[in-house]
Amino acid sequence: MKIIGLMSGTSADGVDAALVEILPSPDRPAVRLLAFATFPYPGGLRERILALAAGGSSAEVCHLNAYLGELFADAARGVARSAGTPLEAVDLIGSHGQTIYHSPVLRAEGSRRIRSTLQIGSPAVIAERTGLTTIADFRPRDMAAGGEGAPLTPLVHHLLFAHATLGRAVLNLGGIANVTLIPAGRDASAVSGFDTGPGNVLLDEFVRLIGLSELGYDPDGRLAASGRIRADLLEELLRHPFVRRPPPKSTGRETFGPALVAEFRSRLQREGIRDVDGLATLTAFTVEAAAENIRRFVAAPRMIHELIVMGGGARNACLVQGLARALPECRLRLAEELGYDSRAIEAVAFAALAYLTATGRAGNLPTVTGAIGPRVLGSIVPGRGFRGLGFP
Ligand SMILES: Nc1ncnc2c1ncn2[C@@H]1O[C@H](COP(=O)(O)OP(=O)(O)O)[C@@H](O)[C@H]1O
Ligand SMILES: [Mg+2]
Repeated sequence: MKIIGLMSGTSADGVDAALVEILPSPDRPAVRLLAFATFPYPGGLRERILALAAGGSSAEVCHLNAYLGELFADAARGVARSAGTPLEAVDLIGSHGQTIYHSPVLRAEGSRRIRSTLQIGSPAVIAERTGLTTIADFRPRDMAAGGEGAPLTPLVHHLLFAHATLGRAVLNLGGIANVTLIPAGRDASAVSGFDTGPGNVLLDEFVRLIGLSELGYDPDGRLAASGRIRADLLEELLRHPFVRRPPPKSTGRETFGPALVAEFRSRLQREGIRDVDGLATLTAFTVEAAAENIRRFVAAPRMIHELIVMGGGARNACLVQGLARALPECRLRLAEELGYDSRAIEAVAFAALAYLTATGRAGNLPTVTGAIGPRVLGSIVPGRGFRGLGFP
């Protein structure tokens, strides 16, 4: 069957759309990528989303929810067109949406303890515009079951990357970085995974705060490569409690975002430190937070033979080279070397998660998210061919 996966991460840079073919199987369905494209958000939208994430009005949440639904539907149509596949030949859409808030830390409300997450990009709009049944809101169900709601990609990473004799770690450098650990020759119940901390988020924030590049990120890591790491500041950053907190754990822009970067910047100014040295230091922090988590929380780091790097951060040579130096015992490989487009895998994962939901199978791994059990994830919005729930 054919499924479109749609995703926009914490970087809020645009909609990643993947058209995949799934060859059904009860234990290990095969997932093949037919087409992938990124549809950048129109000018100014990223800033509006980030402003919303930092605290905006409910009117803006409501409006952008519907507007992003339109853009996600456009992305679904666009990726199908690029593959020459008519939408009628597509069975399903799995949409992650755009996270505007993720709060996995329990908050007290009387005697209750509440955790929450909110992704916008209305699936009703996507289903209406495409005619396709759309599954969205994957994270809230895992959270309702006591989980972090993230990461949700490890089960799919296992489908794509499990190897009979090689232990593998999959590191996704999105806005936030997350790692999946896949021991050799084991089924998905042996997989672990968690967020390691920042991916590109601090680097993007810093570059934008200072206006170091009009691209809004550090192209290929060149700016950071021209700076010098300040060991004292790096050591302080690494004292951040999230780095040492044992899994399950997930994080977002609420923890690693504008507030941390603004504070860091004023420190640089007080001490007369150059901006590029600050960026080099934040890049080193991103590398070390990931490496330290892999060293600390992987039961037997030597069992990890290969570290597969993906996400937009795989384009940042300074990050990738830093990781290779920090984890010399792992062979570092870009997803491309294994035949995957490194930008596509998160979107592929949400197509595969939609397939699991549509076939009544769980998408979360309780060992990863901390949920009390496996859960069939998502909310389903019927498309044109929807035939009910099987009641007479
Ligand atoms: N050529 C590049 N050089 C450096 N960084 C890049 C490059 N291309 C993309 N990126 C980084 O990747 C980010 C997007 O990564 P992505 O995997 O889409 O993250 P998310 O899932 O959070 O949206 C950009 O915001 C930017 O920081
Ligand atoms: Mg993105």
